[in-house]
Amino acid sequence: MTSDEIRESFLSFFEKRGHKRLPSASLVPASYDPSVLLTTAGMHPLKPYFQGLEAPPHNRLTSCQKCFRTPDIDVVGTTTRHLTFFEMLGNFSLGDYFKQGAAEFAWEMSLEGFGFDPEKIWVTVFEGDEALGLGLDEEAVDAWLKIGVPRERIVPCPRSENFWQAGETGPCGPCSELYYDRGLEWGTADDLPGGDNERFLEYWNLVFMQYNQDPVGTLTPLPNQNIDTGLGLNRMALIQQGVDSVFDTDQFIPLMELGRSLATNEIDERALRILADHTRGMTFLIADGVVPSNEDRGYVLRRLMRRAIAQGHRLGFQGEFLDKYVDVVQETMGAAYPELGRERDTILRWVRAEEQGFGRTLETGLSMLDDLLARGEVSGEDAFKLHDTFGFPIDLTTEIAGERDVPVDIAGFDELMEEQRLRSSAGAGSQERVGAKQEVIRQLSQEPTEFTGYEKLEERTTVAGVLEQGGRTFVKLAASPFYAQGGGQVSDAGVIVGGNAQAVVNEVLRAGEDQAIALDGVGRGIKAGETVVARVDRAARLATQANHTATHLLHAALRQTLGTHVRQAGSYVGPDKLRFDFTHGERVSPEDIKTVEDLVNGWILQNDPVRPVTTTLKEAQEMGAMALFGEKYGDVVRMVQIGEGDYSRELCGGTHVRSTAEIGVFKIVSEGSSASNVRRIEAVTGPEAVTLLRNHDGLIREAAAELRTSPEQVPAKVADLQKALKDANKKGAAGANGAVDIAALAGAAGEVEGVTVLTSAVAVGDAKALLDATDRVKNAIGDAAIVLGAVTDGKVALIASVAPSLVERGLKAGELVKVAAQVVGGGGGGRDTMAQAGGRDPEKLDDALAAARAHIEATLAG
Ligand code: ALA
Repeated sequence: MTSDEIRESFLSFFEKRGHKRLPSASLVPASYDPSVLLTTAGMHPLKPYFQGLEAPPHNRLTSCQKCFRTPDIDVVGTTTRHLTFFEMLGNFSLGDYFKQGAAEFAWEMSLEGFGFDPEKIWVTVFEGDEALGLGLDEEAVDAWLKIGVPRERIVPCPRSENFWQAGETGPCGPCSELYYDRGLEWGTADDLPGGDNERFLEYWNLVFMQYNQDPVGTLTPLPNQNIDTGLGLNRMALIQQGVDSVFDTDQFIPLMELGRSLATNEIDERALRILADHTRGMTFLIADGVVPSNEDRGYVLRRLMRRAIAQGHRLGFQGEFLDKYVDVVQETMGAAYPELGRERDTILRWVRAEEQGFGRTLETGLSMLDDLLARGEVSGEDAFKLHDTFGFPIDLTTEIAGERDVPVDIAGFDELMEEQRLRSSAGAGSQERVGAKQEVIRQLSQEPTEFTGYEKLEERTTVAGVLEQGGRTFVKLAASPFYAQGGGQVSDAGVIVGGNAQAVVNEVLRAGEDQAIALDGVGRGIKAGETVVARVDRAARLATQANHTATHLLHAALRQTLGTHVRQAGSYVGPDKLRFDFTHGERVSPEDIKTVEDLVNGWILQNDPVRPVTTTLKEAQEMGAMALFGEKYGDVVRMVQIGEGDYSRELCGGTHVRSTAEIGVFKIVSEGSSASNVRRIEAVTGPEAVTLLRNHDGLIREAAAELRTSPEQVPAKVADLQKALKDANKKGAAGANGAVDIAALAGAAGEVEGVTVLTSAVAVGDAKALLDATDRVKNAIGDAAIVLGAVTDGKVALIASVAPSLVERGLKAGELVKVAAQVVGGGGGGRDTMAQAGGRDPEKLDDALAAARAHIEATLAG
């Protein structure tokens, strides 16, 4: 049986038994579930159904889900079975069949579908757990006995083995696992399933999902008894294909072969396995919209790629090689996963960028490591620095160090990693917030609110529930025109008007399709059961809608201008502006910004209709609709199409204008970096854009008035002024206020009749600073005649300093300063060696200094 055959036989087996087949959801979990970075199990995308938050499309479901398990990154390659990326087959019951039904289906599929000899199948059941207050799962034991499994092949196992939960909190329950007995040649007669042995291979996990685990650790029964099962496709392929390692099954053989053919050094199985696993994971992650970065999912991807590159280096691969692996992954899995073909260009682009970038780092890291190894030890700090700053994987450090018998302080490294993890983990808090929102909405009323805001901005409706909690008032309406924050778009503002009460909407909370409204202030007289009018703030909504449609246009324009690797990575859509984060590796040039603005404004002028279309996910994908990174989409989707859909189709639950002309005008305000490989653009539309243009106009006019010129001449005038300022500074040999460049000033001194003479203007703030500058320059040049002048507060300050030896030659500071002061319309005096004066006419400062100089020359020539 090939892997494709296993997948198809499983899904069609359950389809024939009343299960609805679901496509695999994205590896990037739905944005409202922050509990995990990546999808780790088949049940994960179905969590809201298990929790009773959303109605499932059917009560029996089956899927083959793409999964990724981060903790296994370090293990991959050292065993024959661990993988990071794998496919999980599963059948699910939502309040339909339970333990007996699940056991029967699994038994039948094992015998008829997988062709197992019933004698070779063993099962485990949950033995109970005191802390959980649960005993042996008798119901599961009975289910297996009824099928005919002998009691001795039903093995009770502890909580660590047989109680399953998706994360710290959420739906969970006891489980029962099926094992395949590979016979005594793989172990001993004493071996049991659940133990750590090679004889029994676990292949199917049946979870009896009946509890919800809350953050403090208590179990509460779920609204329904459910079934969640998981069967690892690659592990089944190993059994079916009679091999000992998943790396020898059909999906992996071509990848292992590729590695062997590229190697020029001695073959190392572990390196080949890491390359095979990681390149598969990398290809699927990028196809689902992840880009390499230093955070979250992007970091997981980057680690995979760098580990793969490093292993290729070890094996002596020549040149770049990741793209060759992408080709093989696509050949082996592209039929089952068409996104690999659709996103091919994007996958290759990111793979090449990372490989080129890291190629250089790898060299630096290797030579750094060489130095460390020569010193005889690698400290935790050094290992962490290699890892964190140079992206040099720790396992590469330990491997190379191991070859040379040099110890690495792994404990120290782990400590630093843990510190970093704590610094960057923000997930738990937001998970609690999501949980709290869901709780509020559920407490208000079980009946979901009907959202009517696509068509209406006002709704006469009844209040389904009111709740006071934590100093806030929440209400739930039977029907609501208020948009609840989601898909980047902010909550609507507005009011709820009751009999004689009016309350202002503060926030609209969302849980799936349901919502609740938080009101400003407390109470305000809105009562459960009464009829109210809910009114959306029209101006804010219209501005928000314009920004939302403009966001779609911007997305389309960026893809046209920069390439189809551009994908949305986050957005804010409010009445004030729009912010759009997208995957792209470099700064967007001013020319490209202009092209993008022109494209968007062109579409606005075309006055194209904007139409939401309800369709199936499959059809939307076939029409090339953009699905957002991390968003969850059901079977039936809402697709927003602009014009004939030839330039923009996106899956989107937000509100939009009816035609593009309503946007008015579109202007990009800023472009910058948001994270590595993610750029951020902010833009405004409609009245906000006009306000922006008007403000800019005003600023230019003000500047022109200040410069006494026309707006057109402002840049030239500013350039002139800047030049003049520079010249003046040079001439004055001075910098900013007080910071006189004494060396430059001293350099400006010259000789007259064998005497050092300095006359100069300096830029200082006041007469005291001028005195100070005089003292300092006197120290620098020795016996001299010095006259310095400065303009302070629109007036002139002058100082003359004459060395005693020159006073003997008839030069007196008091006279000297008077000569200069006369020129600038002032006067002053002082001693023979030092005198000060003031003047009113700054424009004549240069003339005054010239007059002083002439006086010095005349006197000395005497
Ligand atoms: N959700 C269960 C698992 O992942 C089936 O093992």
